[in-house]
Amino acid sequence: MNKIQKLIEEKVGWLVVLTLLVISVAMLVEILPLMFSKSVTKPIAGVKPYTALQLAGRDIYIREGCYNCHSQMIRPFRAETERYGHYSVAGESVYDHPFQWGSKRTGPDLARVGGRYSDEWHRAHLIRPQDVVPESIMPPFPWLAARPVDAESLPAKMIALRKLGVPYSDGEIADAPRAVAGKTEMDAMIAYLQGLGLALKDKR
Ligand code: HEC
Repeated sequence: MNKIQKLIEEKVGWLVVLTLLVISVAMLVEILPLMFSKSVTKPIAGVKPYTALQLAGRDIYIREGCYNCHSQMIRPFRAETERYGHYSVAGESVYDHPFQWGSKRTGPDLARVGGRYSDEWHRAHLIRPQDVVPESIMPPFPWLAARPVDAESLPAKMIALRKLGVPYSDGEIADAPRAVAGKTEMDAMIAYLQGLGLALKDKR
């Protein structure tokens, strides 16, 4: 056994320090370039920040735990792209904080569900999934139709997102409560779902 190997393998302190060093260097090499790479920091053509109503819908999606059964991440495999459309790319998620990729699929992936069904289909489906898909095991979310969107909290959320790089204008932020006035959580959820994945929708 050569000397260096002997030192590392017999002195546990050295082993720990050097192991951490190797892992740190590997992380820097893997992660740092990504943070500056345009492909993950710049939106691809056609990706816009969520409207106030869509943003409210996204928050309800998170609140209701839809992500426990639905991923929003199409993998680059034929079986997936045949079923869902173009695989997901990082530039589609730059305005998502936090993103909703996930990997749990009790239900289908929703990354490109936008435009796949009508608003009425979604409304019926969310109120009672079995009315439109009889074999569905998705739970119903009827209360969404009865609750108004929480308009007051939207400007603060948009200001927070702007700090993370989402380009909301002062006008959009000030106008947010008016933009969702009279809308229900159901309207917001549908607006969100109908906007998902449109930028690469027709490409395969
Ligand atoms: C317990 C698991 C579960 C939860 C929670 C759940 N779903 Fe589903 N979802 C399913 C299953 C299973 C299907 C497939 C059958 C169907 O279409 O109802 C589905 C289908 C869907 C579809 C149709 C997708 C397609 O391409 O056909 C949409 C849209 C959807 N869910 C939205 C939601 C939203 C929004 C929420 C949260 C409010 C939610 N789901 C919560 C299990 C779930």
